[in-house]
Formats: sequence, structure tokens, C-alpha cells
Amino acid sequence: MAILITENAEEGSRTAARLVARAIRNRPTLRLGLAAGHTPTGLYRELVRLYRSEKLDCSDVRFFSLDEWMGLPSDSPNSFRSFFHHHLLDHLNVDPDHIHLLSGQPGPDAAASCAAYERLIRDLGGIDLQLLGIGRNGHLGFNEPGSSLHSRTRFSLLSQQTRRANARFFPKGQVPEWAMTVGIDTILEARFLMLLAFGKEKAAAVAKAVEGPLTASIPASAIQLHPAVIVVLDKPAAARLTNAAYYRREASHLETLLPDWLRQGPP
Ligand code: F6R
Repeated sequence: MAILITENAEEGSRTAARLVARAIRNRPTLRLGLAAGHTPTGLYRELVRLYRSEKLDCSDVRFFSLDEWMGLPSDSPNSFRSFFHHHLLDHLNVDPDHIHLLSGQPGPDAAASCAAYERLIRDLGGIDLQLLGIGRNGHLGFNEPGSSLHSRTRFSLLSQQTRRANARFFPKGQVPEWAMTVGIDTILEARFLMLLAFGKEKAAAVAKAVEGPLTASIPASAIQLHPAVIVVLDKPAAARLTNAAYYRREASHLETLLPDWLRQGPP
């Protein structure tokens, strides 16, 4: 696992966006898994800037989502679908047929639509690069504490902590009770994971995920099982790591920690 401790969230977002842009250049048909939430907004902003200033061609990239609130109307401004369009997809040269987002629609077909999403990811060749945030309670996607480390795409009951943390995004704080989420096993099948965390309120969860025991109580600790992960932090989010000095030394050789296809230059 490569742990990159950056000066601040802005630098972390810029560094992460450069890596994503490099992944797109090296592999123009990149299958990119997107996370929603506050954390990746700087990365998406920077990616849009690179698209405009460096003509980053995204026409062959496929986009997948990690999760979605359940039961919101499809045109709801609070949906992750709207979030992805607003922050990223509407600003790049994306082929609309290459956008694959979880529906979050409840009802008798919900389980079938989760299974269909898994099939779609598989049939399109799997996710190459999965972007991730982390909840203050250690959730990954909307896999809340207690989720099986072998979970697949399904609907998940949200913890009160998660609902409270997201109340500011909903009118009258009415956060849905349920979400659809890609499972932990599904996440671990991606070829490369990039987890971002900024701010001191993430420090405890980050330390547990990176240095604590592998446990379903901290779903993000599952990244320890993956052979190709980069964790991009700002200083406050890294504040509770005990091995920070080692991570800094290791990160000075970042290129050696990346999979071949993500290294500088053509694959
Ligand atoms: C969002 C997601 C969540 C968030 C996490 C952190 O797609 O999967 O796991 O990454 O809740 O949210 P923010 O970034 O708003 O702190």
C-alpha cells in the first residue's frame, strides 16, 4: 500500500487527479469507478481542468458509480447521479453510453438490478481504477461497519452516523435510510484502488483502516487485502498514523509502487 501524505487537500486532489489523468492517457479505455461525497470534488475539478488545458481525451473512458441513495427520484439534485454529472461528467467529452451508474431504485427489482450491475462490470472487463473515500466510521462505499468483507453489490441500511454526516446535503436533513452500494469484494476486484481522505475528522478512521486489524467493523480495512492501493491524505487525515515517517520515505519512490500500466510514459 502506498500512503501519500500531502501538504493539504488541494495538493492531494491535484496529485490524485494527475494520476487519474495518467491512467486515462496510458489506458484510453480506462474503466473508472467514481466515488461521491465531499472528498473527491477537488480531484474532479482538477480533472476537468486537465481536460480543458491539456486536452485529456475521455471519449473511450467508462464511468461506474460506487453507490447511490435509495428511493430518490432519478432527477433529484441530491442523487449521486446528479453529483457525478454536476462535478465531472457534464464537463468532459464523455460518451453517454459509457456512463454506468447505480439506479438506487427500490422495489421488487432492486436485488436484480444489483446483480445486473455486477454482471455489467464483469462483462465490460472490470474496473481498472476505483476511487474511494472513507466514512468517519470506517465505511467504504456504503458498506457500513459489520458488512461482510466478501459482500457484493446490494442495498445497505445506513448507520445513523453516516446519515448525520450527510444531513447537510438534504433539504430538512432528510437523508434516505438505505443506499445501494457496490460490495467490498466487488471493490477489491478493481485493478487499482485510490482512497482519498482529507481533514482531521477522518484521522481515526484512516489509522484504523491502514494500520489497524482487518475487520468488518472497519470496512475500509479491507484495502489491506488489495495488492495495488494508493491512499492520498492531507496532514490532518494522516495525523494518527504511527508509521508516517516510513510512508513518506516509501512515497519518495512512488513510481515503484504503481502497477506497470500506471507508471509514467506509455504502458
Ligand atoms: C460516496 C461513498 C462514501 C464516501 C464517504 C466519505 O460515494 O462511497 O463512502 O466516500 O462517506 O464522504 P465525504 O467525502 O463526503 O466525507
